[in-house]
Amino acid sequence: MLEKLAPPNPPLTDGVVTLRAFRAEDAPDIAAACQDPAIQRWIPIIPRPYTEADARRFILMTLQAWHDGTSCEFAIVDAGDNRFLGAVGVHLGRNLRRHAIGYWVAPAARRRGVATRAVRLASRWAFERLETQRLCLWTLPGNVASQAVAEKTGFRFESLTRNWESDRDDRPTDAVMYAMTPEDLADALAAEETPDDALVAVIPRELRAPGTRAAPFVQVARLATLTPGSLRRVTLADLDLLVAWTAAGIVVSDDRCPHMAAPLSIGELDGCVVACPLHEGRFDLCTGETVRMPTTGGLDADGIYHSPWSPSGAAAKPEPPSKKLEARRLTRVQRLRYYPARIRDGHLEAQLPILPE
Ligand code: FES
Repeated sequence: MLEKLAPPNPPLTDGVVTLRAFRAEDAPDIAAACQDPAIQRWIPIIPRPYTEADARRFILMTLQAWHDGTSCEFAIVDAGDNRFLGAVGVHLGRNLRRHAIGYWVAPAARRRGVATRAVRLASRWAFERLETQRLCLWTLPGNVASQAVAEKTGFRFESLTRNWESDRDDRPTDAVMYAMTPEDLADALAAEETPDDALVAVIPRELRAPGTRAAPFVQVARLATLTPGSLRRVTLADLDLLVAWTAAGIVVSDDRCPHMAAPLSIGELDGCVVACPLHEGRFDLCTGETVRMPTTGGLDADGIYHSPWSPSGAAAKPEPPSKKLEARRLTRVQRLRYYPARIRDGHLEAQLPILPE
């Protein structure tokens, strides 16, 4: 059981749907939706007939579950006018790294991608906030609409599991099992490619920046304002991003030299290699590797020491005081890290760790 769980504040949203905690005033909408024959058919635990008293009990149960740390239940509402659209919940397992997700959408809100959006938001939140390593989801075998949502969101079919559920008459019934890892979610987001995505460089998967595994895509720049061979700083909240249009395509990284954090955006780009404005360091923006160590020397990404050096023709600099010398000797020049990028609606977007409002 997880302690001190609370609905996210501000609520989760993708600009089209918002996930928030249930409120007492949702009862009439819940009662109306749960009388729908499809919801009654595919979710056997929902009472039949379903009344407003059932809805009020359900709302109290969801709030208690947040308090007890047993389940994280969200109302899905329209991000524009707050209309009630449905429900999605992350049900916490005894093993704190494996949870299950469930959802339903009111009849009037179907066929608009509401469930897909809501499941994506809740899944991403579970992977980040709960550090979940596996989310599972199951449906009754005939519920093809729910299975389509699962697959579109990034869940993968795992099995037809016998006698997993019970029907309304308490008879055992089979279930179709799906599961998703953070990598599955990231792959599903990345798979929604457009022809413009060919402008984006393929980055080394192991060099993705921390916190981007299942992070949302955020607009970074209008594509029309970028030119091949250019370097640009874009600041979003406290992130200073480097947008570089290299010979291999566009990359988004931190606008900080991996040596001593100088802004690479004011350096010089030649093909894939950027020359830092300080210390003569050169870095390959297409592979993340250091091409030339800075004049100060130090440790490379593999921890190997490199001596200080001077450009040819320049006089050797005197050794600095011992503390400074030690700091230089221990400074590690790490490989570059990347924010996965894509092009949507004429904008460069990058997967960024959630930014403060
Ligand atoms: S800060 Fe870039 S090489 Fe030193």
